[in-house]
Amino acid sequence: MYKELAKFYDLIYHWKDYKAEAETIQELIKKFKTSDGYILLDVGCGTGMHIKYFKEVYSCTGIDINNEMVEVAKSKVKGVNFKQGDMIDFDLNTKFDVILCLFSSIGYVKTYINLEKTIINFANHMKKGGVVIIEPWFTKSAFWVGVPGMTTYDGDDVKIARLNTTKVEGDLSIMEMYYLIAEKNKDIKHFIDIHELGLFEHDKTLEFMEKANFKSKYLNDGLMKDRGLFIGIKL
Ligand SMILES: C[S@@+](CC[C@H](N)C(=O)[O-])C[C@H]1O[C@@H](n2cnc3c(N)ncnc32)[C@H](O)[C@@H]1O
Repeated sequence: MYKELAKFYDLIYHWKDYKAEAETIQELIKKFKTSDGYILLDVGCGTGMHIKYFKEVYSCTGIDINNEMVEVAKSKVKGVNFKQGDMIDFDLNTKFDVILCLFSSIGYVKTYINLEKTIINFANHMKKGGVVIIEPWFTKSAFWVGVPGMTTYDGDDVKIARLNTTKVEGDLSIMEMYYLIAEKNKDIKHFIDIHELGLFEHDKTLEFMEKANFKSKYLNDGLMKDRGLFIGIKL
């Protein structure tokens, strides 16, 4: 998952306005954070597209389970500490003022057991008065099961087509992404990336956040219009 994709990730998501999202996050941090410091962690940071807008103000660390994504982030965004790690059990031995987990990365933990472990792990890395912002994947009822998807990128030197199907098994959404990538002067690449994300109910996420000592709420108006945001303040 994401391994072959890492190099093309930013092209696939070229439509995403990371700068505007970072501004919204900045406003939320200003509104809710009461800790004094400026140490930020982006979990499931991908290619570093959000963190690059925070590095002037915050001392930033990004972690991602996928080493290929970490390498892309390192080569693109200087002055940030990028590391490979699993959000369920990473141990950075640091307490942060802000922890971000955006663009549904949290869904990849797949199960409620892992979701609870992950939220406890975030809490263990958080200063009192620090803020965690989690952008969720979909709930079961909001997920568009059975509906096919298509995303394309049409550059001069690279063209990408991604088609996917969607399935649900229990509380898991499964998307088989079929990629076709044509690059200038190269043979066409094709590969399948299978993504499995947990369909977590909002009440359950809030319950785990409260249990982990976060004063929490779900905001309907988040970064992307269909996902909302969880925000938690560490007590
Ligand atoms: C949809 S991408 C989001 C990346 C980035 N936050 C963004 O907004 O572009 C999901 C990311 O979560 C990472 N990921 C998946 N499971 C993870 C885990 N257990 N721990 C840390 N990162 C994980 C993937 O490698 C991928 O980079």
